Amino acid sequence: MLAARITGYGDSSVFRVEDAPEPHVGPRDVLVRVRAAGVNPVDAKIRGGAQRAVMRPPMPAILGMDLAGDVVRVGAQVTDFAPGDKVFASPSHRRMGAYAELASVDVSELARMPASLSYVEAASLPLAALTAWDALVRRGHLERGQRVLVQAGAGGVGTLAIQLAKHLGAEVFATASAKNLELLAELGADHPIDYNAERYEEVARGCDLVVDCLGPEHFDRALETVRPGGRVIALTTGLPEAVAQRGPWLGTLAVGLTLARYALVSRVRKGVRFIPMARKSDGAALAEIAALVEAGAVRPVVDSVFPLRDVARAHDRIEAGRSRGKLVLSLAA
Ligand SMILES: NC(=O)c1ccc[n+]([C@@H]2O[C@H](COP(=O)([O-])OP(=O)(O)OC[C@H]3O[C@@H](n4cnc5c(N)ncnc54)[C@H](OP(=O)(O)O)[C@@H]3O)[C@@H](O)[C@H]2O)c1
Repeated sequence: MLAARITGYGDSSVFRVEDAPEPHVGPRDVLVRVRAAGVNPVDAKIRGGAQRAVMRPPMPAILGMDLAGDVVRVGAQVTDFAPGDKVFASPSHRRMGAYAELASVDVSELARMPASLSYVEAASLPLAALTAWDALVRRGHLERGQRVLVQAGAGGVGTLAIQLAKHLGAEVFATASAKNLELLAELGADHPIDYNAERYEEVARGCDLVVDCLGPEHFDRALETVRPGGRVIALTTGLPEAVAQRGPWLGTLAVGLTLARYALVSRVRKGVRFIPMARKSDGAALAEIAALVEAGAVRPVVDSVFPLRDVARAHDRIEAGRSRGKLVLSLAA
């Protein structure tokens, strides 16, 4: 099968699009012919080596934690899926490998893709939608009538978090640069905030929940924004910067200490729960998200589509941090 592989850490030039062995299919696995694969910031962090103290894929490695495609065959214990089913998934980092024509996915991480979506649209959803869902619902406990601030509202996670928060009945504040304010409003944000023109902590005072996609330089401001007793969900920890400065081990330790300090300070100063979060790979939650798409509550926002051979260009774009919605690799025949 054709795959985009890396043989070591580095910039986007480390990719080789080449023949690779087909993945092993265990008894609880489903072999999927990948038609499209989502590109996420974490893929670039893994490729660059920033995650290597916590995630060390054996080399050569096939990256990719978002896919949509067709079931080719199923393991002996799989009864819920059959060849020909159209599916999507966000495999965990232990099972990544979506940048390839075939991927073997644990059945617990798989769901049927929404019938109304193309493969590209479906592949844009899983990781970002599961993250938004976990941040708002599982960890954020967002309730009808509450106020939430979504940082980086025009990004992959933000575009979905805004829509899901509106669906949950919240009042939504969201940040972006001026060119993306209209998009935030289209997605349902009640208060789009231009982060270059306004200080969000002054506009979005007293939020019950802050979903922070920006990292440590915004933690103090998130704490200022949230009401006493509220929650801050931290999706970004500043690991790449810390690893670049101090190396993989000390950098990872420094990030851990920073997060622990923020958790303590937030609790002591304002009774706020500061929660660093990693999304859960979960087929059942993904099926719920598919239902929300079919009901018209959530729609994918795709920034751009690249053929697999242009994976390096897709990584350069994700690292630039300016995408509107998601980047997707197409493996269409
Ligand atoms: N913990 C987890 O499980 C988890 C899961 C998913 C993602 N993440 C992390 O969360 C972060 C966001 O992910 P993503 O997929 O949404 O990234 P993304 O799609 O690459 O985000 C790009 C967006 O960020 C916006 N942005 C950049 N700087 C901003 C600022 N200062 N204020 C407001 N918006 C800003 C840009 O909007 P403008 O062009 O308008 O500035 C752009 O639309 C990443 O660091 C990612 O690794 C964590």
